[in-house]
Amino acid sequence: MKMPLLNVCLAASLVQLASAATNGPAPAEGVTVETTTRPPASAETPAQRDARMAWWREAKFGLFLHWGVYSVPAGKYGSHTNYAEWIMNSARIPVAEYQAYAREFNPVKYDPAAWAKTARDAGMRYIVITAKHHDGFAMFPSAASKWNVVDATPYGQDLVGPLVQAAHDQGLKVGCYYSQSQDWNNPGGAKSGFPEGDGWDPVHKGDYDAYLNQVAVPQVRELLTRYPLDILWWDTPLYMTPKRIAPLAALVKLRPGLVTNNRLGGGFGGDTATPEQFVPVTGYPGDWETCMTMNDHWGYNAYDQNWKSSAELIRKLAEICAKGGNFLLNIGPTSAGEFPPASTARLHDIGQWLRVNGDSIYGTSRGPFAYLPWGVATRKGSLLYLHIFQWPNDGRLVVPLANEVKSASLLARPGSTLPVASRDGRLLLTLPAAAPDPADSVVALEIKGAPVLQPVPSAGAPAQASAWLPGSEPAHALDGSGQKCWRAPGNVKSAWLEVDLGQPTAIGAFGLDEPDVWPRLHQSYTLEVADASGWRKIAGGTTQGHGTCQSLPPVTARKFRLTMDCPQGSPGVAELQLYRAEE
Ligand code: GLC
Repeated sequence: MKMPLLNVCLAASLVQLASAATNGPAPAEGVTVETTTRPPASAETPAQRDARMAWWREAKFGLFLHWGVYSVPAGKYGSHTNYAEWIMNSARIPVAEYQAYAREFNPVKYDPAAWAKTARDAGMRYIVITAKHHDGFAMFPSAASKWNVVDATPYGQDLVGPLVQAAHDQGLKVGCYYSQSQDWNNPGGAKSGFPEGDGWDPVHKGDYDAYLNQVAVPQVRELLTRYPLDILWWDTPLYMTPKRIAPLAALVKLRPGLVTNNRLGGGFGGDTATPEQFVPVTGYPGDWETCMTMNDHWGYNAYDQNWKSSAELIRKLAEICAKGGNFLLNIGPTSAGEFPPASTARLHDIGQWLRVNGDSIYGTSRGPFAYLPWGVATRKGSLLYLHIFQWPNDGRLVVPLANEVKSASLLARPGSTLPVASRDGRLLLTLPAAAPDPADSVVALEIKGAPVLQPVPSAGAPAQASAWLPGSEPAHALDGSGQKCWRAPGNVKSAWLEVDLGQPTAIGAFGLDEPDVWPRLHQSYTLEVADASGWRKIAGGTTQGHGTCQSLPPVTARKFRLTMDCPQGSPGVAELQLYRAEE
């Protein structure tokens, strides 16, 4: 869920509210409490924020862990086997029945040191673990709720603290995911799909504000005072308002340097945007992180064998970094406390690739190209890292760049040099016959000066549409950023956007970002060109609200029309880009 950035003057008043919130339970025995507080967010200068975010921007790659009582049923309830961390809500499991799973939760094989080393060896630089997911189960001792790993399971020990320590021992940063609104066990906690204060089980009935003050605020305070966390990862801001988030947002200052995301709600922007399961075609401005599963589930599902390949995950990492983001890749551990072997195998492959090509990932910023037909590019100052996914059969790689080149070499072949020719504002690299890496072979290209390249033909082009909402005009779809969208009114199910490139232009690919909204828009799209016979379809398909980017048989035209069909109404796109065909 994307929230508008918080009005920074609100932050200053949050500190007073924090002290008004319940002091929360005393921390666990023998735990030192850091009570220093960081300056109010409103006092943070851009330079201070950059300093606080520096490690996160350098890190680029992290491990997401969705672990909890839901790993006991492992995705199965009745005859259905497609559940995971949402099983209690999706299957409408009564509270008493669900709590019985906790009596089987005994992760005797849990080895946080091994988990942290596996993450480190995979080239990951931080870990985020679910301290409390929507089911309300706390993976840490909590005086605010008996529904926790110490009081409700045979294991009876803190799971969060040892991982925090192990991560820091491995030189990794570490954080907790905390579902601040939803709690499907404590009365009053939000239950997605149900009115505030209610749920599918009579015992759910309760006061939401009482839940926030008696469970969520004390637990977040426990997490931030007991563990030296580097990240707090909020999720699903149901029923959240600025007044309700205030005590939670204020607690952030208990942990100096903490990085938070944009999912607290109530207008709290946090530090990072959180596109989920997709890579925004245009990237997002500022700090953002794609979180993604390796198969189709966040929590452990013993039946889900739809694994993304290691090559696909390596390319995702490169693609995300090329757009300027971080990659938070998920594992759902088993109830015994182990990583699924398929997950570990993929981490091993990614780690091997990063040991050779890490310079093209860590500390990089977004590359200069909106689209490349053969891969993506990351950047580090005058160095461009060309990530080649499709190795050219003829050994000739065209780079749409007009710069003079100082050097070109393969990261996998230190000391190698590649011949580079320059013609008509483009570079022509000559590559060896065989790709060093089947997933992603990287060329380090050192250029002179800032990148000189042609603009995207559709950027800023005149646009019209069949319908639009005030404030969601057609031009927003061509403004180069996915932050403002073109949207039709809610009662419209199908709408078109027409782009005039001003002159016939050879187009070889297109990309579209969709509005990052919940529930996701499931749209169908049709792309047409205007030719002598009228509008001719050149591409079509459906989306999962995640946009799409596709190459096309090159077509030369001046006018293009994108039609979006959205059964739930209010079709639209955040950004449409038409990319020049490579002659
Ligand atoms: C989705 C899932 C939730 C998961 C989150 C991670 O919202 O519903 O269970 O924790 O993605 O981003």
